[in-house]
Amino acid sequence: MSPEYTFIYEIMTSAEIRKRFLEFFENRGHTVVQSDLLVPKNDPTLLFTSAGMNQFKEQFMGKNIRFKRAASCQKCLRTGDLENVGKTPRHHTFFEMLGNFSFGDYFKKEAISWGWEFMTKEMGLAEERLWVSVYEDDDESYDIWLRDIGVPGRKIIKFGAHDNFWPADAPTMGPNGPCGPCSEIFYDWGEGAGCGKKDCNPACDCGRFVEVWNLVFTQFDRRADGRLDPLPSKNIDTGMGMERIASVMQGVKTNFETDLFEPIVEQVKKELGDEAEKIRITDMYLIADHIRAATFAIADGVSPSNEKRGYVVRKLIRRSYLRSGRKGPFLYNIVPKIADVMKNVYPEVGEKREHVSAIIEEEEKRFDDTLTAAMPVMDSMVSEGAGKLEGEQIFKLVDTYGLPMDVIEEEAEKRKIELDAGGFERRMARRKEQSRKGSDISREFIFQPGHFDNAPKPSYSDEVPLETVLEFILKGDLPVDEIARGDCAEVITSPQSGRLYAEAGGQVGDTGSMVKEGARMDILNTFETGGRKVLQVLVTEGSFGRGDRVTLDLDPERKKRTAKNHTATHLLQAALRRVLGQHVRQSGSLVDDKRLRFDFTHMKKLSDREIIKVENMVNAWIGDCIDVCKETKAIQEAKGEGALSFFGEKYGDTVRVVTIGDHSKELCGGTHVVNTGDIKLFKITAESSVASGIRRIEAVTGDNVHKWLKETLQGMLDGLKIAAGNLQNVLEPEMKRHVFDIVGGGKDIDAGVLRDFEERIRPALMEAKKKLERDAKKIRKEEESGALDDARPSMDRFAEESITIGDVNFVSGILRGLGMPLLRKAAGYLEKKIGSGVIILGSREEGKAYLICAVTSDLASKGVDAGDLINRISGKIGGSGGGNPTFAQAGGKNPEGLQAALEGAKDILGSIS
Ligand code: SER
Repeated sequence: MSPEYTFIYEIMTSAEIRKRFLEFFENRGHTVVQSDLLVPKNDPTLLFTSAGMNQFKEQFMGKNIRFKRAASCQKCLRTGDLENVGKTPRHHTFFEMLGNFSFGDYFKKEAISWGWEFMTKEMGLAEERLWVSVYEDDDESYDIWLRDIGVPGRKIIKFGAHDNFWPADAPTMGPNGPCGPCSEIFYDWGEGAGCGKKDCNPACDCGRFVEVWNLVFTQFDRRADGRLDPLPSKNIDTGMGMERIASVMQGVKTNFETDLFEPIVEQVKKELGDEAEKIRITDMYLIADHIRAATFAIADGVSPSNEKRGYVVRKLIRRSYLRSGRKGPFLYNIVPKIADVMKNVYPEVGEKREHVSAIIEEEEKRFDDTLTAAMPVMDSMVSEGAGKLEGEQIFKLVDTYGLPMDVIEEEAEKRKIELDAGGFERRMARRKEQSRKGSDISREFIFQPGHFDNAPKPSYSDEVPLETVLEFILKGDLPVDEIARGDCAEVITSPQSGRLYAEAGGQVGDTGSMVKEGARMDILNTFETGGRKVLQVLVTEGSFGRGDRVTLDLDPERKKRTAKNHTATHLLQAALRRVLGQHVRQSGSLVDDKRLRFDFTHMKKLSDREIIKVENMVNAWIGDCIDVCKETKAIQEAKGEGALSFFGEKYGDTVRVVTIGDHSKELCGGTHVVNTGDIKLFKITAESSVASGIRRIEAVTGDNVHKWLKETLQGMLDGLKIAAGNLQNVLEPEMKRHVFDIVGGGKDIDAGVLRDFEERIRPALMEAKKKLERDAKKIRKEEESGALDDARPSMDRFAEESITIGDVNFVSGILRGLGMPLLRKAAGYLEKKIGSGVIILGSREEGKAYLICAVTSDLASKGVDAGDLINRISGKIGGSGGGNPTFAQAGGKNPEGLQAALEGAKDILGSIS
């Protein structure tokens, strides 16, 4: 290591850096705000929280400002740098961002001088080591650095909008919303660290200069037409990469050697055991990064799946698994170490470590199964194709076998085959189109809170029905003055009704109606954003205009049915925790007036007994008629009493606690019944799996149970009738009488029926059974010959590529998925094809290896012995075998040895001929 790397005043732990940062800004009037969740609530524009400022979007627009200065250490996840992770010393998926924020309070001067003070005084870094950059048009910042701070001009670099505007390139490319020029602080690792050029500066990407802190001067609102409107007030948003400043303060070349990562990387090494020798350190860095990110995402409520966020987690786990080169789950063992390193700052990863581990293990198992099933298919596609996989074949691997595209790409590169990526995309697009048509999403309403930022703030009333005024109407993406019959829109009234429940915590929003003379609209749902209740409406009669006076009423019956389902959800969670264990936690729920759906953490399918137990327990509590108590208290007090919080939820300082006797205590803002007796009845209607480690229960309550029973019984009766009808058709007329005597008359089975059964039905059934067996055999044969047909092109190739040893024609090759009987047939096929020669075929099937050797009789009579050959090479596949001079076979446990066995046979033949 160059001596330059040790140019550090004080080795500082990451915990110390975090603490000093937050205290530094707290002492300068900032409110320290907890990290937001990785999955932002009410912000459909974000996949994951990707910057400290995400949770303050509203404040930057001048709304909801409770404090003017804030500081935080924010959990972030970005997928944009995925390909760089591990390869470079400082790219991550998950990372922590230290930030200080001003909402219309201080601006450039303070942000810059505090930034400098923190780096040079608090962190004690030498001024010579720090460089800065400013946006090319931002003379104000340039002057502050030069004159107020005293950074020499040669160390202030000017960058364009790509590097020094945030978000990058926002003026030309967006996104819309708060943005502004920025200024970065770089740390110089010294001349020995990079390209070595005398004039190297932060514009060079050799690694000598690392960007540690980004100070954003958020002063514009980018509008849809690309205009940059000045914001009502000027803001500050800074972001310092925790891992980067830690590497600087600990004098280590990569973020992976800091105290944040080093123990995790060590654990990765330990888990890899001997395999660790076979992979690169950068691969271990990748695994440490990805599993850390997956752990945090799962702890915040995301499960591996094929959808959006779930897919990111799935991808992180799969990339790590593939990169490790190992077989069988092991990544899950890294989770406890990650929890140890991070739990003091993020208690959720400590609390949920077992759950996270279990989910990762399950995902590894699934992926391993996928690979085991799909790789042989890919092998045979490759061996049959002319150096190319067609779009349809790739689609089959992805869609039917679940093989990820990145694995296919990696394999294709390894095997030097071309991929018809265009064909695959076209096939995929067709599939998407089909599934889009199949689902009725046309009316789905995607709530975009940002659309209401400029709507008026309504006043409040608890009256129902409520006389109110339509203050704001949004149709599509645009505010409008009028809506008419057939229109779907979102409206805000003033006063708004305090009695309308807005969708939250899994409970649907309230519905109702709004009317005026000659016009009516249905309220289909209610949402809330920034203190405004937004009503999603469908106009069913007449038309409405902005400013109209209307009468708003809600649907009380629907609300009552919803309340029953919500309280039942709490009882269900309590019963599940008693029956299955305390690891059960809510991971999602949906409560409406028809049913409830509850997703929870549990690894196994529930048995029938468990379901009945849970159902009985909930019904017993309903029968006990227990009062449901709702109170508001401080979060600490509620948690102290053991109230359950929702998986992946962030709460304020005061919370509402819903308590049901000794059975259940949960933080919840939803609608509940007064007494459990109001629920009347509870029935579980389905149990299923949603994602790895997450089960789902669906249930109904109250009158919906009767409805469900009626429908289900009717379905069963219809089924029985059809079955009875079918039975009638197959039984001979005189048998019908007996059957209907038994079914209809309820008589005991008499001797006549038994005799009939013995004499007539049993032989008929036996005959049918035999026929079925004959059919099954036929199908099996057809399937086998199908498999042989599939292997034929490979065998033809083996024959073409045969070699001559002495004067013996030698044909060999390895097939996949053929068991011994088919392999024998394959050898027979080749024997016929070549006329004279020695054939040795290998096959791997379900982890086993098979070898077969056929020697045509002309050679056998000259002394070439198939049995001897097989005997001598079967050790290579970890097995044994035997046979006679013309035909021999062997089986073993080691498919990896097949190639060596074939090579061995070649050598033996060479030595005897
Ligand atoms: N939002 C800026 C960034 O992410 C600074 O916090 O870089």
